[in-house]
Amino acid sequence: MPHLDEPEEEGEELTIARPRRSLLYIPGSSQKMLSKGIASGADTICLDIEDGVAASAKGLARKQIKAWLDTEMTKAPENMEICVRINAVSAGDVYNEDIEWLDTLDVVPHSIALPKMDSVHDFNTFLPILTKLEKKHKKNIELIGMIESPLAVINLPSILQESKSADNNHHHLSALIFGGDDYSAASGCIRTETNHELDFPRAMVQMHASAHGIGVLDIVCKEFKDPSRFKKESLISAQQGYIGRQCIHPSQIQHANDIYQPSNELFEWSSGVLAEFDTQTKAGVGAFTYHDAMIDMPTIKRAENILIRAKACGMVLKGDINGNGDGKQ
Ligand code: COA
Ligand code: MG
Repeated sequence: MPHLDEPEEEGEELTIARPRRSLLYIPGSSQKMLSKGIASGADTICLDIEDGVAASAKGLARKQIKAWLDTEMTKAPENMEICVRINAVSAGDVYNEDIEWLDTLDVVPHSIALPKMDSVHDFNTFLPILTKLEKKHKKNIELIGMIESPLAVINLPSILQESKSADNNHHHLSALIFGGDDYSAASGCIRTETNHELDFPRAMVQMHASAHGIGVLDIVCKEFKDPSRFKKESLISAQQGYIGRQCIHPSQIQHANDIYQPSNELFEWSSGVLAEFDTQTKAGVGAFTYHDAMIDMPTIKRAENILIRAKACGMVLKGDINGNGDGKQ
C-alpha cells in the first residue's frame, strides 16, 4: 500500500498529499444527507456505518453506501476524498458484517477509517483485510486510524511502529483522527467548553503522529449552531499542528477549510523567505534578516513545510499562474 506521495508504479505521476482540512461525517442510513456529500465542499466525506448510525440501521447504511459508491464516486470533485468508516474491530459481529460487506463492493472508497483502534492487535486484524481489498481492486486504499481512548494513546507508539512498511519507505496509516468524545467516555474526564481536559492526549496524539510524518484530524464540535466556538477551537488546534478536523454539519466545513490552511500572509511570507534564501545562499550568507527578523535553517524548513501544505490545499500565489507557489515565476 504505497503512500499517496509515492508513485504506485514506475512512470506514474506524483500525487500531492491530501489536504484533509475538513472531514464531514455522513450517516450512511440517511439518503438525504448522502445526497449532499459531493456538493458539501469538504476535503473528505466520511460515509459512516459506525456511531452516527443506529444499530438497527447498519444494514440499511451498508446498502445505501454501496449504491452511493456505485453511482456517485465518479461524480465527486477530483480532490475530494471519499472515505468509509466501518465499525471497530472490538465491535465483534457488526465489524465482521462490515468486512463481509467490503468484499461485496464493486467500487471501493479512497480510504477507510478504522474507529477505536486501541492496539496493535486492532491494527493488525484489519490491515490484511485492507491489503486483500487493494489487491482485488488493484487500487491504493488509504487507512485512517482513530485514536479514541487512553489505551489507544498509550499504545500509539507501538501502533505507529507496526504501521511502518518493512522497507521503512511508507506508513500503512495515512492519517489519524483524535476522537475526543469517545476518549472522555473511556477516561472519565468531564467535557468542558475549553476542552482543557483533552489537552494532554491531544498533544500526545499530534506529537507521535508528527514524529512519523502523519497528519492528525481533531475532535468534533457538537455545538454545530455555534460557529464562533468552532472557529475558536479550530484556531487553537491548527496552532497545535492538527491538519484539520472532523465536521458533523455542512456549516462547519468552510470554517475548517479556511482555518486549517496557511493564511495568505504566511503563504506569501514563506515564498518571499525562500526566494531571499536563494539569493543569500548564492552570496555565501547563512543567517540573514527578512521582515525585521533573523532567518536561519529552522525557519527555512518551516517555510518549505508551509509551501507544501499550501500546495496541498490548492493555494496559488497572487500572479503565479503556474501555481508553483515557490515565488519563482
Ligand atoms: N451531511 C450531509 N448533510 C447534512 C449533514 C451531514 N452530516 N448534517 C446536516 N445535513 C443537511 C440536512 O439534511 C439539511 O438538509 P435540508 O436543508 O435539505 O433539510 C441541512 O444540512 C441543514 O441541516 P440542519 O437542519 O441544520 O440539521 P439537521 O437537524 O438536519 O441535522 C444533525 C443535525 C446533527 C442530526 C446532523 O447534522 C447529523 O446527523 N450529523 C452527522 C452526525 C454524525 O455523523 N455523528 C457521528 C460522527 S461524530
Ligand atoms: Mg468515536
